[in-house]
Amino acid sequence: MEIIINKDAPSGSHAAARVVAKLIREKPDAVLGLATGSTPLILYQELIRMHRDEGLDFSAVTTFNLDEYVKVPPDNEQSYSYFMWENLFSQININPENVHIPNGMATDIPASCAAYEQAIVQAGGIDLQVLGIGSDGHVGFNEPTSSFASRTRIKTLTRQTVKDNARFFGGDESQVPHHCITMGIGTIMDARMNLVLAFGANKSRAVAATIEGPVAAVIPASILQHHPCTRIFVDEPAAAHLKLADYYRWVYDNKPAWQRV
Ligand code: GLP
Repeated sequence: MEIIINKDAPSGSHAAARVVAKLIREKPDAVLGLATGSTPLILYQELIRMHRDEGLDFSAVTTFNLDEYVKVPPDNEQSYSYFMWENLFSQININPENVHIPNGMATDIPASCAAYEQAIVQAGGIDLQVLGIGSDGHVGFNEPTSSFASRTRIKTLTRQTVKDNARFFGGDESQVPHHCITMGIGTIMDARMNLVLAFGANKSRAVAATIEGPVAAVIPASILQHHPCTRIFVDEPAAAHLKLADYYRWVYDNKPAWQRV
């Protein structure tokens, strides 16, 4: 794991955007795994700016989103599909045919999940997966005790996640769906690179457990310790409980320029 402590969320998000942009410039038909939530918003804004000002070309890029609510149609503002079109896809030159988001409206959910996994394989696998972290250490919607071998499937949200996400539903917990479809942890571990973003004090416990805790299914993100290429961008508040924070800063400050992002 490479831990990069940034002074704030914008600087961390811009650094992550440079990693994404570098991949797309080197491999124009890159396959990106994308996340929703408030965390990646600045990253997406920066990618939109790079597209507009620097000609960053998404025309051959393929995307697979991590997750989606069950029984929330794509035209509903709370759906992750709506979120992605609103906050990224409508503002870049992505080919809509190359956009993949789990289908929460599928009548046969297991078949739809299997087809999603198959589509990832057919696309050549995910080159770079963007991840946020839930306050309970979840990635995608892989809640605590999710199998490290899991693939795309239906999951039930924890009460904590329902509570956390109520802010997107006018603060009304009763409006938050209890079921979702999410890529599995096995799916995420197959990505060639993972970029994890975590900002704010409410993520500091999950961040510390992910990076410095034992690898355990109760903190799903901790499995990333076993991933060969994971970069974690945090801001100072999210880094507050990292015991080795000074070491991570020292390592990054002493990297040769070509190794930095
Ligand atoms: C949500 C999403 C995750 C996201 C996480 C954190 O429930 N399913 O993909 O990373 O929880 O959300 P936020 O970035 O809003 O804190």
